[in-house]
Amino acid sequence: MSEPVGGLSAFGPGKIIVIGEHAAVYGEPVLAGAIAHGVTARAVPGAPGIELSANLEPAQFEALQRAYAAASKGAPLRVRVTSDLPIGVGLGSSAALSVAVARLLLQARGKKFGVPDVLKLAAVMEGEFHGTPSGVDHTTSARGELILYRKGGPTKAVKAKKPLRVVVAQAGVRTATKTTVAGLRERRTRWPKRYKRLFHEIGTLASEGAKAVTRGDLAELGDLMNVNHGLLWAMQLSSERIDAVVRRLRALGAHGAKLTGAGGDGGSVIGLFDDPTDAIERLTADGVQCFESPL
Ligand code: PMV
Repeated sequence: MSEPVGGLSAFGPGKIIVIGEHAAVYGEPVLAGAIAHGVTARAVPGAPGIELSANLEPAQFEALQRAYAAASKGAPLRVRVTSDLPIGVGLGSSAALSVAVARLLLQARGKKFGVPDVLKLAAVMEGEFHGTPSGVDHTTSARGELILYRKGGPTKAVKAKKPLRVVVAQAGVRTATKTTVAGLRERRTRWPKRYKRLFHEIGTLASEGAKAVTRGDLAELGDLMNVNHGLLWAMQLSSERIDAVVRRLRALGAHGAKLTGAGGDGGSVIGLFDDPTDAIERLTADGVQCFESPL
């Protein structure tokens, strides 16, 4: 066995989908941004392999081992992964992990590399975690900025005229993205015309959202987020718990609020605020787990 590479460390940020989850799987544009929370991968002494400080379900642990084996191709590296990102709640934890590990593996090879190399290697890992990912999660993480992404198309950076201050609040545990995406796929296969129309409308909202961000029109971006949530709700991707948090964020003064990520029965909800300080304080006092993230 060769000596492990020591002293290397790499970070992958988590992400928030502002507008366009699920429709992204079917090639529609999606507006997403990287957040400050994320995953760090470090090379540590020991036998080659990967270890995570968080508790994983057996199936998640197996997916992690498979993903690492596929990406590392036997590299003599022991990787320890730590995260300040809640796992499996729609904030792109698996993509952040894939990007952090991909960067670490590329660093260990000792050659120069860029975002395309990180994307390629991270995609190998994401493929093991998700059935048919659109690629928005690991692209947002690898680029570390606000983007308008389209599967198979060029990714555009979106420059915000005004700071985007978002509250990320938790609405409880949820089923795996794979399961939620598969359920939606069944409905879309059964009623293709209607779902195609709905997905296309969501893609249009995402493109309009990118323009609103560029103009600094937070009121319009908020409205687009509200409409997006309505369509996700119509497609059975929301729940009572999610809707309660969405309503709460709106009542606390959000320009707009919606579920983010795969949704389903729980997960993360976002609200767009001019100044979220008061909302964070009140939600925290009520026992809702939340944090502010600039985009
Ligand atoms: O796994 P999550 O909750 O971060 O959601 C990913 C977003 C989806 O659009 C639902 C799936 C995808 O691959 O784009």
